[in-house]
Amino acid sequence: MKENIAILGAAWGDEGKGRVVHQWSKNFDLVVRTAGGDNCGHVVYRDGIKFAHHLIPSVDFRFEHTKAYLGSGMVINPESLFREILELLAIFPNAAKQIYVDQNAFLVEESHIEQDKANNGHIGTTNRGIGPAYMSKISRKGRRISDALKEQNSFLMKLKELGVNFDATPQSFRNKSMLFEGAQGVLLDIDAGAYPFVTSTNTTTSSIISSGFGFAYPKKIYGVSKCYTTKVGEGPFPSELEGEKAEELRKLGNEFGSTTGRPRRIGNLNLDLLKYAVDYAGITDLIITKLDVLNKRKVKLDTSYVTNSTKDSTKMPFYVFTDNHKTFYYDNAKNKNQILPLINHIEEYIGVKVSHVSCGVSENDFYDI
Ligand code: IMP
Ligand code: MG
Repeated sequence: MKENIAILGAAWGDEGKGRVVHQWSKNFDLVVRTAGGDNCGHVVYRDGIKFAHHLIPSVDFRFEHTKAYLGSGMVINPESLFREILELLAIFPNAAKQIYVDQNAFLVEESHIEQDKANNGHIGTTNRGIGPAYMSKISRKGRRISDALKEQNSFLMKLKELGVNFDATPQSFRNKSMLFEGAQGVLLDIDAGAYPFVTSTNTTTSSIISSGFGFAYPKKIYGVSKCYTTKVGEGPFPSELEGEKAEELRKLGNEFGSTTGRPRRIGNLNLDLLKYAVDYAGITDLIITKLDVLNKRKVKLDTSYVTNSTKDSTKMPFYVFTDNHKTFYYDNAKNKNQILPLINHIEEYIGVKVSHVSCGVSENDFYDI
């Protein structure tokens, strides 16, 4: 049987996980999301057309043997699930039958969204009600998909009619091969990140176990990182670029939030941050994306002075830093030989292998190293 794998974001989300999951999904029976809600936007291109997945795992629905599973660790807004599935059905009329929703997932309700908007203040959430929905869950006042089904929630009833399955459990897929799709990134993890500038879940593999998939725990954990860094929302950002430099890269990389449309903050790739994420999450292999954005430019890889001594919880352990960088250059990231010095440097510094890189949105622009 094929080895199960997980694909995690190794930074603050938006690393390009969606395209990797989309490309590899056909090799698996099941693609599972185990945490978060419609706060994330996993962008995939289908026939050159952009599609942002928010709740549904980034499955390539052309392959009907691959199913998508929304796990019990998620928080789901039924209306938003309904809208996303309708959008998908316009491209793949049979896709509903490939989608499974765990009844134990919790609901995001209107009151959660209002509360998120009212509380948002300083951290800059996506306003999707994610934090308040998890607050309800943790304080044992939450309601689940099963409750909404009993109440005949109109969106869920329509989804059932369309063929979405609400009766499966992790055990239903006991002998199937699985790809676990991470949401957000390690640096937004509620424990690993710079609290309170974090999301409300663990974004690493812990939610695989707490969603009932412990028996399928992945052997390989891929961490996805761009060759530069972006962040949406407030909080410390070592190696952040300002002014024109940031503006230029933002345009070149089209770095605008796919959920909120907000311009993303831009920075150089910081190898100490990446190493922190890799160590924290037990990442076994790295995938470096968007190398084409830096074609014919100076690629700066920063390092920082890392300390665990800070007692200020609003700062990441690696917040105190002195910038240092190494510069690389290539004409065209499609030429493997040209990017090898950069890749070798990353591997040496981080201590894990870079297994794949991407240098464009088409399938051919993704290759192994
Ligand atoms: P929340 O997840 O909406 O509560 O937002 C908490 C923080 O996580 C904010 O800084 C958001 O911008 C950020 N965030 C949440 N989901 C994503 C994502 O998928 N990509 C990038 N940032 C995200
Ligand atoms: Mg995204």
